[in-house]
Amino acid sequence: MSINHPNFGAIEANRVIIFDTTLRDGEQSPGFSMNLDEKVRMAETLAELGVDVLEAGFPIASIGDFESVRRIAETVKGPVIAGLARTARDDIQRAAEAIRSAERKRIHVFLSTSPLHMKYKLKMEPEAVLELASTSVTFARNFVDDVEWSAEDGSRTEPDFLCRCVEAAIAAGATTINIPDTVGYAVPEDMERIFRMLRERVPGAEKVIFSTHCHNDLGLGVANTLAAVRGGARQIECTINGIGERAGNASLEEVVMAIRTRPDQHPYSNNIVTQNIMRTSKLLATITGFDVQPNKAIVGRNAFAHESGIHQDGVLKNAATYEIMTPESVGLQKNSLVMGKHSGRAAFRDKLSALGYGDLGDNSLNDAFRRFKDLADRKKIVYDDDIVALVDDEVMRDHQHIKFVSLELYAGSKTKARAILELDVDGITQSAEASGDGPVDATFNAIHAIFPHQAELRLFSVGAVTDGTDAQARCTVRLEESGKLVDGQGADTDTIVAAARAYLHALNKLLVKRARTEPVALSA
Ligand code: KIV
Ligand code: ZN
Repeated sequence: MSINHPNFGAIEANRVIIFDTTLRDGEQSPGFSMNLDEKVRMAETLAELGVDVLEAGFPIASIGDFESVRRIAETVKGPVIAGLARTARDDIQRAAEAIRSAERKRIHVFLSTSPLHMKYKLKMEPEAVLELASTSVTFARNFVDDVEWSAEDGSRTEPDFLCRCVEAAIAAGATTINIPDTVGYAVPEDMERIFRMLRERVPGAEKVIFSTHCHNDLGLGVANTLAAVRGGARQIECTINGIGERAGNASLEEVVMAIRTRPDQHPYSNNIVTQNIMRTSKLLATITGFDVQPNKAIVGRNAFAHESGIHQDGVLKNAATYEIMTPESVGLQKNSLVMGKHSGRAAFRDKLSALGYGDLGDNSLNDAFRRFKDLADRKKIVYDDDIVALVDDEVMRDHQHIKFVSLELYAGSKTKARAILELDVDGITQSAEASGDGPVDATFNAIHAIFPHQAELRLFSVGAVTDGTDAQARCTVRLEESGKLVDGQGADTDTIVAAARAYLHALNKLLVKRARTEPVALSA
């Protein structure tokens, strides 16, 4: 069987489309919000990873969401760019407008179909929901040829009604039918059964791609996704690092590596360049400030670390004794020594391109190079991970109102900490001196003195980029202002400078957020 799809043409029976929703379902979970530049950067990296469909956001949700979907549609080449919409005409029109300039585009319309959702959330009778499924898809087809229709809470929908809704959506012109396990309630057997049923019972099922979208509330997101594919789903909706509402979505890297590592069980092909997985995962962690747990499958710090003597011995004799996939297959390089303080700009540029960075632009490249030289002066060994942390830090700082200039500290167990700080605020250098309960507090107070604001500090965390006491620290600061949360990150060999950079990053994000309108509610 092969399907002729408006965006993908003839699709082989065992080809699985990877639909990434990191920038929509992932981004909507608390603390994971990204600004426009960060979303565009993430979208470019996802395109390099080889995702087939990139759900860039929910354009009606806010001006910021609309703008980021529009910018991604304009600039990111490769994947089909999807915008999410509820069934209202305004929603659909806004999504259509946001994705208009994409080379290949899709509108994704969703509507609840379970008894619980119809009664309490939509307050609609099933027949009216059925009608709306049809009219909303018909309306969306006025703008694009590729329309995905999702039955929200599909896994808890009564089977006959689900079949009728899916039939109506196909008849109205949907090209992809997504059945989400919105609340993460399903077990693998449910998911396999639902897709088998739809393919057997729904007239027109052979003309569309079925899609799975599993949440991870019971830790079954990936297992449910693979079971859905076994049942006939050929599009997988997933996110990098498994981020998403509540316990998250099925993790892209886990699903893809399960397919790749066990072709005997999962004989499906996809377009993911697995060697880019690690880089994409790290970029997301840097942008959002949330590191993945150390034992997270595929991308956790310990995923390829062999601690016990017996395991180390086995791996040295033959890596396959304890490794079911190679670290290189997910892009994990042994930390290699990079250049020293005598390396020039050309070598630095080469290194960046080997690490997968495109053109940074002259300003960012110059600033990153200056910081690399400074780092090489202070740190015995500069690793690839150091360069990645430094460049990510620099790129995030482009176009910011408040920039770090310098910091002097006086602290110790016998004296009250004092910070003398210089910042560049919109091109003008300003300085302040402040004391505090320890050097971090003193530094944050100095920021307050230069740039007074009402934001409350909600989280401060510190991690190390590499091993050793001269490692760069990576700090995360979360600020809250009028209910809006933002996370900022900063990296430096000096932990307090990293903390100051993280604070400023968060503050700059707040300034951007202040200009945005309130988001509308999105369920799931
Ligand atoms: O989980 C869900 O149901 C969703 C839909 C909007 C597809 O995210
Ligand atoms: Zn979801």
